[in-house]
Amino acid sequence: PNLKMNEHGGSSLTSFNCRAKGGAPGFKVAILGAAGGIGQPLSMLMKINPLVSVLHLYDVVNTPGVTSDISHMDTGAVVRGFLGQNQLEDALTGMDLVIIPAGVPRKPGMTRDDLFNINAGIVKTLCEAIAKRCPKAIVNVISNPVNSTVPIAAEVFKRAGTYDPKRLLGVTMLDVVRANTFVLSCTLPILPAGPKMQAEVLGLDPRDVDVPVVGGHAGITILPLLSQVKPHSSFTTKEIEYLTDRIQNGGTEVVEAKAGAGSATLSMAYAAVKFADACLRALKGEANVIQCAYVDSQVTELPFFASKVRLGRDGVEEFLPLGPLSDYERASLEKAKKELATSVEKGVSFIRK
Ligand code: NAD
Ligand code: LMR
Repeated sequence: PNLKMNEHGGSSLTSFNCRAKGGAPGFKVAILGAAGGIGQPLSMLMKINPLVSVLHLYDVVNTPGVTSDISHMDTGAVVRGFLGQNQLEDALTGMDLVIIPAGVPRKPGMTRDDLFNINAGIVKTLCEAIAKRCPKAIVNVISNPVNSTVPIAAEVFKRAGTYDPKRLLGVTMLDVVRANTFVLSCTLPILPAGPKMQAEVLGLDPRDVDVPVVGGHAGITILPLLSQVKPHSSFTTKEIEYLTDRIQNGGTEVVEAKAGAGSATLSMAYAAVKFADACLRALKGEANVIQCAYVDSQVTELPFFASKVRLGRDGVEEFLPLGPLSDYERASLEKAKKELATSVEKGVSFIRK
C-alpha cells in the first residue's frame, strides 16, 4: 500500500483508505459541530463505520485537536478537519451525508424551544452552505429544537432551489432508543411488575425490541406507540402513562442529571450513528431499511411529522402507515399535533419573515 502523509502530518494507508471494507466504494460524510459533546463521540463512531470512506469534521472551535486524535484510529475512513466559517464550504463539497449536531444544548429549567434563538441561525447558515456545495446530500438534523430546525432547513433549501424533501431527515432516533430501553428495563417503582416487565428476566435484548415513536422531538410531541411494541406486549393504563411520561421526558432526565453541564451526548451519538448507518445502508441499496424520522410528511395533515419511513437510495422512499392507535394514543396525537403545528410555523416564519 501507498504510505502518504495526510494533512495532519500523519501517514495514512491511502490506497486502502479510499475504499470501505470489502472493496466497495464508501460514502463521504460530514459532521457539522464535530467538536461538541455529541460531535466528538459521533465522529469517533463514524470513523469505525465500514461504509464511510471519507469523514469531514467541521466546527467553529477545536477541530484540529479532534481530527488529529480521531485520525490515529486504524480504521478505513480518511479524516479531514475544517475550522471556522471560511472552511465550511470546503468541508461540505461532494458529501453524500451531512450530520448536524451543531448548536447549544439545554440547561436545567429550559425547554428545547428556548434554544431556538441561537440554533435557528446556526442551522440556517449551515444549510445555506449545504445547498451550495452538496445539494444532493442526505441531511440528518440533530440540533434542537428539531421540530423547528427541520422546517428551517427545508425553507433554506427551497429558497436555494435545491429542496428535496426525501433527503432531509430530523433525527428522532434517541426517542426510539430510549423507548426500546425503558420498556424492558423499567421495573415500575409504583407498580407490581406485570408479565411483560419480566422481559429482562426472559433475556430479551433491547435491540430486539421495537417501539415506534411518532410525532416530533419535544415533550408531548414525542408519542411512543406502545400498543405496537414488538415483540407484542400489552400494558396497563398506569404502565402506559408511566412509560410515555418517561420516554417524553428522557431528555430532561439527562439534562437534570448533568446539572448544567449539557444534555444527552453519548446516548445521542449512539442513536445518531444508528440512524446514519441506516441512511448509508439504504444509500448503498440495502432493501427494507425502516426507521422513525421527522420528515416532510403526508402521514397527517401536518407538513412535518415523525413516523416510520422506508429509506432507499434517494432518502425517504415510502411512509409507513401509523397503524391502529389505542384511544390513549389517538388523544395524545391530537395534543401533539397542536404543539407541532406551532413549532413548524415558527421555523418556517424564521426564514420567510
Ligand atoms: P455542545 O455545546 O457540546 O456542542 C455543540 C457544538 O456545536 C460545539 O462544539 C460548538 O462549537 C458547535 N457550534 C456552535 N455553533 C456552530 C456553528 N455555527 N457551526 C458549527 N458548529 C457550531 O452541544 P451538544 O451536547 O453536542 O448538543 C448539540 C445540539 O444537539 C443541541 O442543540 C442539543 O439540544 C441537540 N441534541 C439533540 C438531540 C436529538 O435527539 N435530536 C439529542 C441531544 C442533543
Ligand atoms: C434529548 O432528547 O436528549 C435531546 O433533545 C436533548 C435535550 O435537550 O433534551
